[in-house]
Amino acid sequence: MTFRIASRLATLPKPATIAMAARARELRAEGEDVISLALGQPDFPSPPEAIEAAYAAGLAGDTGYPPIPGQKALIDAIIHKFKRDNDLTVTSDRIMVANGGKQVIYNAFAATLDDGDEVIVPAPYWVSYPLIARMLGGTAVEIPCPEENGFRPDAATIKAAITPKTRWLVLNFPNNPTGAILERHDLEAIADVLRDAPHVLVMSDEIYEHLTFDGRRHLSILQVAPDLAERILVINGMAKAYAMTGWRVGFACGPMPLIKAMIAVQGNTTSGVCTLAQAGSAAALKGGLDRIEQMRETYQRRRDTMVEALQAIPGLTCAVPEGAFYVYPGVGGLIGGTSASGRLLDTDVAFAEALLEEAHVATVPGTAFGFSPYLRLSCAASDDQLAEACRRIEGFVKGIRKT
Ligand SMILES: Cc1ncc(COP(=O)(O)O)c(C=O)c1O
Repeated sequence: MTFRIASRLATLPKPATIAMAARARELRAEGEDVISLALGQPDFPSPPEAIEAAYAAGLAGDTGYPPIPGQKALIDAIIHKFKRDNDLTVTSDRIMVANGGKQVIYNAFAATLDDGDEVIVPAPYWVSYPLIARMLGGTAVEIPCPEENGFRPDAATIKAAITPKTRWLVLNFPNNPTGAILERHDLEAIADVLRDAPHVLVMSDEIYEHLTFDGRRHLSILQVAPDLAERILVINGMAKAYAMTGWRVGFACGPMPLIKAMIAVQGNTTSGVCTLAQAGSAAALKGGLDRIEQMRETYQRRRDTMVEALQAIPGLTCAVPEGAFYVYPGVGGLIGGTSASGRLLDTDVAFAEALLEEAHVATVPGTAFGFSPYLRLSCAASDDQLAEACRRIEGFVKGIRKT
């Protein structure tokens, strides 16, 4: 019997981030020395206060089912975080905790999308927005954010993409994969467009908010346009800033009816988030920002090293990321060439595959982020690994024959 899976899943492409990491693992298992810059996984330990709080919660018997929206201690810590980091006063009925930022997105789309509803996703984008929207019957409408525009969405382009079927506009700044940040004037222009489109909700994924460089500060659209609060869902989580990817804790702040509907989705899926992970997350959020500042400085230093090395490779271009922990070099000057082992590099997918097979550096092609021809390289690796990866990329590029 051929096993039949649901068509909404069967027609979804496999996220390239995961595919590249899987191929890197296979090569490693074969004994190859692979440097993987494919995943957005911080290479720092989780805060000790989080681990201690989780352990203490377990010993204290905090091991029963959690309240579906999240435990009070964590919700209080999230309210404290919004005040401390964003100067926003929020109430507990506007907050929910989920199994990672990813489940917040799932809950939001599951709670709001009917078949054919449109989700505007500025590209380059983190792979999961269009995939989750499509899995739930929505249609992703991609709008380009060209490099000449600093990889930022243009308000006029957003306006032109809005139709009566538009349900959401996704904003993810600091951006994965480009590191682009929106300035106040960018947010004001977008808010103006939204004021003329009262049927459109805004998903503002701010999970990289603390990782901003060169003195820049993240600004939330909720701060800039408080009059739109009844349509803005702010998403955040413990994974990136607190190096807590495996704890699977994300959270959202949004309008009450939306949060209520998202809690209903969660009640029918996961029943909430692991109690110990919630206790650890509350401790981390209350633990101050010093540790994050140290990580931020490290990421900025690595970014500088990577950008300098990549810009020096003829044929590559590399914009300077303003935040997050990736670099996004352009490979347009090398497309159409042939690698030293004879692979035709006709797309950035072919480029990334050849780079992995021949130089053993795992990256993710821009195609995965809806914006080619680029590669995303994560800076969440040691300085030595990053320097070696750049040397290998240089060697690989030098071997390319142009026709
Ligand atoms: C922009 C963005 N949002 C959300 C997430 C998901 O984070 P979590 O691990 O909390 O699900 C990621 C993870 O890569 C991300 O890059």
